[in-house]
Amino acid sequence: MAFAGGKVILFGEHAVVHGRPALAAGIALGVEATATEADADRFTVAPWGVDIGPDRDHDLARAFRAALDLHADPNRPRYHVHADVGIPGGAGLGCSAAMGVAVIHALDDARGITRDPRDRGEAAMAWERVFHGNPSGVDNMMAAVGGIAVYHRGHDGSPSTLDPIRVRRSLPLVVAFSGESSSTKEMVSMVTRQYEREPERVGELFDGVASLVRNAKLAIQDGDLRAVGQLMDMNQALLSGLMLSTEKLEAICKVAREAGALGAKLTGAGGGGCAVALCEDTESAERVRAALEPLAPFTRVTETGR
Ligand code: MEV
Repeated sequence: MAFAGGKVILFGEHAVVHGRPALAAGIALGVEATATEADADRFTVAPWGVDIGPDRDHDLARAFRAALDLHADPNRPRYHVHADVGIPGGAGLGCSAAMGVAVIHALDDARGITRDPRDRGEAAMAWERVFHGNPSGVDNMMAAVGGIAVYHRGHDGSPSTLDPIRVRRSLPLVVAFSGESSSTKEMVSMVTRQYEREPERVGELFDGVASLVRNAKLAIQDGDLRAVGQLMDMNQALLSGLMLSTEKLEAICKVAREAGALGAKLTGAGGGGCAVALCEDTESAERVRAALEPLAPFTRVTETGR
């Protein structure tokens, strides 16, 4: 049984696609996968009712093919890979990346192959490309490595980097799904088009996000959650400036702050998906979760960083 967790991007979504750093945290919710020898390669996903072979005209089949191709041995056994998904898809929590990493891990285990978590994250890039076209790699690296880290996309052949942050205090978070799913691929193209049209404005905005990441890293290292929350609110304002927020996400952030959250923002691609709120402690996180429940079909408290 292989498990890979989802992630929340606390700072820097979209800017990370365009070379700025992002600060992300792994979450305990994710995807479990098993691989067992079978007569033919087959991929099943619960609770989605997916049951496909690798040659079907379907993104999950193409992604499965990419994972099988990591074992380029024509005489290898065939596998039935089963994935159990414990997070909503299309919600900005890195569901596809967690699935890719868990499937690759399960196939490696079945073949007796040991792969370093970072290598597993890199290996899942081919899986992510099926869904996202131009992924920065932050989702698959976080699914493979976890913890809290600053991620930088590699460019011009240089490798991506993932620098873990030592935290003084763990971060009590509330994740709330707006119920509106969105396509990361479409959101990334929409922001890229804005960048091409207005390179100066959007470039400055991305630079602003990069400085939030630097300050947030210091605040997390100091255990200054109040400062981290304020920086999250600032990042949310910048994301709204890229038209990534929705009325529902704004309402979730507002209710979370009114219920005592230190800061709140959308997380992931936006245009729907999830918001994340930072709280002082788990009791306060429970109060925020309760306040959000009537608004959001999926709300969870998750502590991250230790
Ligand atoms: C999606 O979780 C985060 C984005 O920045 C896309 C990416 O980094 O690949 C929107």
